[in-house]
Amino acid sequence: MNVLLIGSGGREHALAAALSKSPMLTKLFAAPGNPGTAACAENVDVNIASHSAVADFCRLHQIGLVIIGPEMPLVAGLADDLEAAGVPAFGPSKAAARLEGSKGFTKDLCRDFGIPTGAYARFTSAKAAKAYARSKGAPIVVKADGLAAGKGVVVAMSVCEAEAALDRIFGGAFGAAGASVVVEEFLEGEEASFFALCDGEHALAFASAQDHKRVGEGDTGPNTGGMGAYSPAPIMTDEMSARVMREIIEPALAGMASRGAPFKGMLFAGLMIGKDGPKLIEFNARFGDPETQAILPRLEEDLLPLLLGSALGRLPPGPVRLSPDTALTVVMAADGYPDTPLRGTEIHGVERAADMEGVTLCHAGTRFEGGRLTADGGRVLNITGRGADAAQAQQRAYAGVDAIHWQGGFCRRDIGWRAVKK
Ligand code: AMP
Ligand code: GLY
Repeated sequence: MNVLLIGSGGREHALAAALSKSPMLTKLFAAPGNPGTAACAENVDVNIASHSAVADFCRLHQIGLVIIGPEMPLVAGLADDLEAAGVPAFGPSKAAARLEGSKGFTKDLCRDFGIPTGAYARFTSAKAAKAYARSKGAPIVVKADGLAAGKGVVVAMSVCEAEAALDRIFGGAFGAAGASVVVEEFLEGEEASFFALCDGEHALAFASAQDHKRVGEGDTGPNTGGMGAYSPAPIMTDEMSARVMREIIEPALAGMASRGAPFKGMLFAGLMIGKDGPKLIEFNARFGDPETQAILPRLEEDLLPLLLGSALGRLPPGPVRLSPDTALTVVMAADGYPDTPLRGTEIHGVERAADMEGVTLCHAGTRFEGGRLTADGGRVLNITGRGADAAQAQQRAYAGVDAIHWQGGFCRRDIGWRAVKK
């Protein structure tokens, strides 16, 4: 089967590496891909924003499955337009991608289907939102409703901070994504990510992970797309995973189906595990980045039939076979990230790192030209170590990091601290 993978991040390199091992695969294309996917797929220049251009490419190259990595094309309805053109797509329809595209939609779904989450209210004006925040008191969480690249959430430690965030969002800081706002109860506990593969009707537990969203060591500084991750998350025991499937994933899937928007693809639940169990912070409608780079090295079966089964509405029975090993991914980012990453600095040692025992390397924002590898984005490289436990995975990942010589980049040195302490 020929497969087209959409996206250009570290997540897509990890997906391409896993898919390229499939005995079912004839040829893998990546649009646009990156210098890493170029080693296991053919990078092609197709305008992803033009859904008819993508469908034309699929017809010309007899694509049997399109795998959509990032959220933007999902929310824009790429999966719908491909299905209409007769091309199976991995990833939800536009209507089902609202689980990621609108925080208010997801909160209402939780309310209507008894999914545990923080108390909340939705607003379209700053005045009413501020009055609600004042009545609840701090800490309190303010969220722009729409997609804001992870930057639309403010965990306010004072009412004053919440009011300032509301002024910023309603003042247009996030454009249309901030026309509506959710103000939400602050949840206490330990965060974890849980991934379930869905086919519209059934869900299969896929894996757990923990992300590190803050840019600085000790979880300080501004939020980012993710500075590192590991899988599994020790807090996600078998019992806790079963509970999340029962209390969160399955009701969400049933709720979406009953609303005429069955969810197909990867349902990624951001969770807070507190005293009274798991609560939903948010849903994403796709694989996580960098969580995927830490999950896929643990997968001990063919990824392609799983994704195809999800797309065609017939998931295999499972369970998904995962190694009990831990894999831990360190993100190397360009100086200046997350605000204004410095582009064009040269990177050396990538092959040396990738050849080390228990290490895999994914490209994200890199560029290869004239024999030089340079930084071309915020998050640039992902180094994953795999080991019998979190400590060994961490040691291998940082050995890989230390094999890389790059003046213009940085990483956190504490990825996995929570799991290593346990
Ligand atoms: P989100 O984009 O919704 O995942 O939010 C980004 C981050 O903000 C989360 O990973 C949490 O660390 C934090 N956060 C979001 N909502 C809450 C909440 N209700 N209580 C505590 N922290 C939250
Ligand atoms: N790492 C978080 C995300 O993919 O949204």
